[in-house]
Amino acid sequence: MSETLEAYYRFHAGIYDLTRWSFLFGRTDIIDLLSRLTCPRRILEVGCGTGKNLMKLAKTFPTARITGLDLSPDMLRKAQNKAHAAADRIDLVHGAYDGPTAPGTFDLVLFSYSLSMMDPGWEAAIGAAGEDLRPGGRIGVVDFHDSPLSGFRSWMGMNHVRMEGHLLPALQRAFDTETFTIRGGYGGLWRYLIFIGVNRVRPTAAKAAG
Ligand SMILES: C[S@@+](CC[C@H](N)C(=O)[O-])C[C@H]1O[C@@H](n2cnc3c(N)ncnc32)[C@H](O)[C@@H]1O
Repeated sequence: MSETLEAYYRFHAGIYDLTRWSFLFGRTDIIDLLSRLTCPRRILEVGCGTGKNLMKLAKTFPTARITGLDLSPDMLRKAQNKAHAAADRIDLVHGAYDGPTAPGTFDLVLFSYSLSMMDPGWEAAIGAAGEDLRPGGRIGVVDFHDSPLSGFRSWMGMNHVRMEGHLLPALQRAFDTETFTIRGGYGGLWRYLIFIGVNRVRPTAAKAAG
């Protein structure tokens, strides 16, 4: 699956920032919302893409150290170009999120339109985020939720996006829900999700902390 997505973004990296503003809604909102709830020192964005959120995170949390992880070298190259302004605080890491990166370390893990592309793998990624977060740390997810139109869901599937309302229940099982909203895009053609949850004390994280 990683190879398929890598190939997909080899082309899309070039047009990503020009096109995605028109349908990846809620990305600014979730960071603004997070800033009213928490002041993280260590942040991980999983699937950071071209780095739009990394720059917004760096501006919103001026003392935070931020890691951006992505499996696409082409997307990361774009992120690198943007991140030089805050290069002392942003680390870019190439790789697939198929397990925790630094257990018990992060105050915030953000998934912005990346979890819905991890199929298979989204359940493991939610589990890995729980391990990467310290107890009491927050997970933020903004992503496609669902669509009433099966043709649209299929078309999104061809673009490697699964939108079947599967993320919210799994997030609510894994984290204590702090807040969530489901909003409509383009008059209800699809709905997208903003979820913020608090990490529970987990055996591995507790061990790493103590
Ligand atoms: C739709 S883009 C979102 C980029 C950015 N977060 C944003 O909001 O603009 C999805 C990104 O997730 C990355 N991605 C997908 N699955 C991944 C995985 N398993 N591990 C790391 N990155 C992944 C893709 O390479 C892509 O850059």
